[in-house]
Amino acid sequence: MLLLFLLFLVAATSSPASGEGEAEPVVNDFSHVCNSTDGPPQLYLPNSTFAANLAAMSATLPRNASATGFSAGAFGRAPDTAYGLGLCRGDIPGDRCAACLAMAFNGAPDLCRDSKDVIIFYDQCHVRFYDRDFLAGARNAPKKVAHNMNNVSAWNVAEFDGLVTRLANAVADKASNASTKYATGQAGFAPEKINLFGLAQCTPDLTAAQCRSCLAGIIGEIPKSLSGRLGGRILGVRCNYRYEKDTFFHTTTDDMVTLAPLLSSSTGSKNTLWIVAIAVPVAVLLCGFLACFLWIRTRRRRVANLSGRVGIPTMSMEMEQVLKLWKIEESDSEFSLYDFDQIADATGNFSDDCKLGQGGFGAVYMGELSGGIEVAIKRLSTGSVQGLMEFKTEIQLIAKLQHTNLVRLLGCCLQAEEKMLIYEYMHNKSLDCFIFDSTRGAILNWERRFTIIDGIAQGLLYMHKHSRLRVVHRDLKASNILLDRDMNPKISDFGLARIFCSNTTEANTTRVMGTHGYIAPEYASEGLFSIKSDVYSFGVLLLEIISGKRTPGFYQHGKFCNLTGYAYRLWKEGKWHEMVDQVIGTGYPVTEVMKWVQVALLCVQDSAEDRPNMSDVVAMLGSEGLTLPEPRQPAYFNVRMSSFPESTGSFTESPYSYISNVVLTDGR
Ligand SMILES: *[C@@H]1O[C@H](CO)[C@@H](O)[C@H](O)[C@H]1NC(C)=O
Ligand SMILES: *[C@@H]1O[C@H](CO)[C@@H](O)[C@H](O)[C@H]1NC(C)=O
Ligand SMILES: *[C@@H]1O[C@H](CO)[C@@H](O)[C@H](O)[C@H]1NC(C)=O
Ligand SMILES: *[C@@H]1O[C@H](CO)[C@@H](O)[C@H](O)[C@H]1NC(C)=O
Ligand SMILES: *[C@@H]1O[C@H](CO)[C@@H](O)[C@H](O)[C@H]1NC(C)=O
Repeated sequence: MLLLFLLFLVAATSSPASGEGEAEPVVNDFSHVCNSTDGPPQLYLPNSTFAANLAAMSATLPRNASATGFSAGAFGRAPDTAYGLGLCRGDIPGDRCAACLAMAFNGAPDLCRDSKDVIIFYDQCHVRFYDRDFLAGARNAPKKVAHNMNNVSAWNVAEFDGLVTRLANAVADKASNASTKYATGQAGFAPEKINLFGLAQCTPDLTAAQCRSCLAGIIGEIPKSLSGRLGGRILGVRCNYRYEKDTFFHTTTDDMVTLAPLLSSSTGSKNTLWIVAIAVPVAVLLCGFLACFLWIRTRRRRVANLSGRVGIPTMSMEMEQVLKLWKIEESDSEFSLYDFDQIADATGNFSDDCKLGQGGFGAVYMGELSGGIEVAIKRLSTGSVQGLMEFKTEIQLIAKLQHTNLVRLLGCCLQAEEKMLIYEYMHNKSLDCFIFDSTRGAILNWERRFTIIDGIAQGLLYMHKHSRLRVVHRDLKASNILLDRDMNPKISDFGLARIFCSNTTEANTTRVMGTHGYIAPEYASEGLFSIKSDVYSFGVLLLEIISGKRTPGFYQHGKFCNLTGYAYRLWKEGKWHEMVDQVIGTGYPVTEVMKWVQVALLCVQDSAEDRPNMSDVVAMLGSEGLTLPEPRQPAYFNVRMSSFPESTGSFTESPYSYISNVVLTDGR
């Protein structure tokens, strides 16, 4: 009893100290190694043959890996051959595997500044590419080590390290004998009443002997690199091992190697001696700490209860580590991490009064932070399948997208299941509130409409071309165009498709994100999206801005059930002016608006190849007297009311239906 009490004291007082361990990074930066060899980094040029080979690899490996979780290959001819491999953790299903690998490939140019020598580690997969043939051998370098910031008690370190190594060897044996080259295991550590979980994996192309020897190399580093750590991983190209004191993989217990507890009486008595020797002199001191600790805790509880909150969701160890690492990285940037408390306060505990709307990705709230800063808070639907490291990488990438015509991401808040994004607040809501409303529509005169059209085009052009990421929006629509105080347009929800990943394979996507009426035909039918599917949505949006008519539910005018078909017919018959919005009077800049109609029709052409890209669109909108091509038939032209599906069936807006991918070719 006394022992337990003393142990508790030690635990209670040591945790605040470890919580402030600023000096030591919480998790080593294990997410990537950009150039592993000595000498100057080998970089490739964006339009080089190597870049093209790499693009081919990025398209192929994720798709091929969705069958077995592994894929490798050489792409292109010497001297520009790109060698690469992608491996997913053994418990990750095919579609998520492909999503994870695609994300790693897409993030590489940004993380590694166009290096030819890259390895990127995520929780659920890793990707390696190089301009030299590393596939022939079984070399495991470059490697990364990461560890949990918490240690076992000092007097248990030796015994603990022994157990970690024993577990690792048992799991490694099983993994190397398995055809999948993947295995997991568990072992109890009685002195601290914890259960350790371990996971070993090799690329399945290795032989059992190669795999075991690769893992042996890693296990040999455990005593040196991970001594006493309550969790850690050693990651390499060919094999990796990870252990934690909580489960971090999906396996049923009977798949796991389970180590029998090691009974040793000698360590028990030694421990008792140690505890008495250490604990007695400091017990008095610790009592003081304990009193302080308990007092703060009860006080905190009382405050929480007073404010009527059900309770702040608790964080997992992994989340704490990720946040910590993040705080260090972001300390000098404009991106902030917000506390759950702060956001709950700002939104009146997510009261309905503060709710601005409900989108496909989750509810949006208006909030006022202390200091009077107004923000919009997007509370992402829970169940995003992404691991935390992946989420963090994505958010950092999205935060880097900054343009006057994109809504700015100010920060985010992570707490247990809660994932929230904090954006700048837009005072005039969204474009659909204006253009589809006969009274408010009048506020948007033609000059303002042009500013809006041009702004959206500039924002998209930036996303497609000028940002390093080359993001495809995939759900561009009037309600995703927000307006600031001066009615300047800002695109929102960009990049979110990357977060909600479930299905990357470009060709075989059965579920499509996007909104009925705005989806390009090749995306709706084959799941193929590209910058040209965004161009299609832009064209539809442009027609809406010109006509003041909503695309979905456009049922007037006889047999035409969609705005694109209607507009095209009027254009062909030379009566395009019939579609121009009348709420702002009949006097309008005829040549200008006629040009917009023509550009819009060029954007919604059936064939993606015929559609212009956004640089063309910006050029066409900005020029005078340029002869534009004659638009061809738009998509869905022959779709009649009777044959158009009533329900939006496959066009679900559920966040689980999003595909995570970014198209690297920009279609020029
Ligand atoms: C864990 O142990 C390492 C040395 O093995 C030490 O540097 C580190 O500060 C310890 N961490 C905590 C939280 O005590
Ligand atoms: C590549 O590695 C060298 C040292 O080997 C380092 O000086 C350089 O900054 C690295 N470059 C990149 C892009 O990481
Ligand atoms: C593309 O490659 C050519 C040489 O083949 C080079 O002159 C040009 O600067 C490159 N363009 C870009 C954008 O890198
Ligand atoms: C990918 O899969 C296709 C079809 O199964 C196959 O032809 C191709 O060789 C594979 N490529 C790699 C690099 O594994
Ligand atoms: C697995 O392989 C190891 C050697 O790598 C061997 O000692 C062990 O007996 C094998 N276990 C099984 C179940 O085949």
